[in-house]
Amino acid sequence: MGLNYLSDRKGIILAGGKGKRLAPLTNAISKQLMPIYDKPMIYYSITNLMLCGIKDILIVSDPFNIGSFKNLLGDGTQWGVNFNYEIQEKPEGIAQVILIGEEFIGNCHLAVALGDNIFHGNDFVKLLHSADTRSNGCTIFAYPVRDPQEYGVVKFDRSGNVIDIEEKPEIPPSQYAVTGIYFYDNTVIDRVKELEFSLRGELEITDLNRKYLNDNLLNIEIMGRGNAWLDTGTIDSLQEASLYIRTLEHRQGLKVGCPEEVAWRQGWINDQQLESLASSLSISGYGEYLLKLLKVQHLT
Ligand code: G1P
Repeated sequence: MGLNYLSDRKGIILAGGKGKRLAPLTNAISKQLMPIYDKPMIYYSITNLMLCGIKDILIVSDPFNIGSFKNLLGDGTQWGVNFNYEIQEKPEGIAQVILIGEEFIGNCHLAVALGDNIFHGNDFVKLLHSADTRSNGCTIFAYPVRDPQEYGVVKFDRSGNVIDIEEKPEIPPSQYAVTGIYFYDNTVIDRVKELEFSLRGELEITDLNRKYLNDNLLNIEIMGRGNAWLDTGTIDSLQEASLYIRTLEHRQGLKVGCPEEVAWRQGWINDQQLESLASSLSISGYGEYLLKLLKVQHLT
């Protein structure tokens, strides 16, 4: 913290999709509302944007689940941010949220975060900040994974320059998957309008990022092995992500992805406001944690 933020960057979180691989858990509840240990999955994406100083956030979900997000998150004033809501009628791709959010974005820069991506690591917040301070082009984050064919995959030349990004390639050109957080300048609105639907019927974020690459405006941040980028798409990966967060939180006594804490550390809510948020959660350990923040000095 203490960095200069681009105060004119807005954030969009996509919290859609059927979550079919998690059925029956997701038959009546959005995947992004599933618990990752002690908080709803979407909290982790929200706090990543908040850590970049982004206060204006558009939540995009499907017609069935949008109401649940409004119930959970409200207008954001409790955390010193502004939440707006829009509906994506059909799951027609990540890039479509930029069209849906065109008016919301206005003249600002943009960060798009997928509501089901969990990141953790000291380096990661630094990488976010450096992406945020860049005002031209787009920045994507790549992470080595065992199963790159499940993702967008970066192709490098011998000198390590990005030469292509391929969406779910049968033969991956590298181990580096493109993760679900993207930073764009305002030209993203014009670029997204040029996209055509892919064979799977989506406006692909990979095609959008390729447009920046073709114009030499794609920056890539490689997330090193000391960071975690966790999948939440299957029952086992959901459980593993929960256990990862639980292990860290138990050991350190510090929470990961806690919007109340981030808001307070950013100076967006004061001690009294934190205390009142804590008292409304007092029966759970979550509320106790918030109260403890006011009493214990943390240097990290
Ligand atoms: C999407 C993107 C893919 C990216 C992934 C990250 O995949 O299309 O490029 O690597 O998110 O989570 P999808 O969720 O559509 O399978």
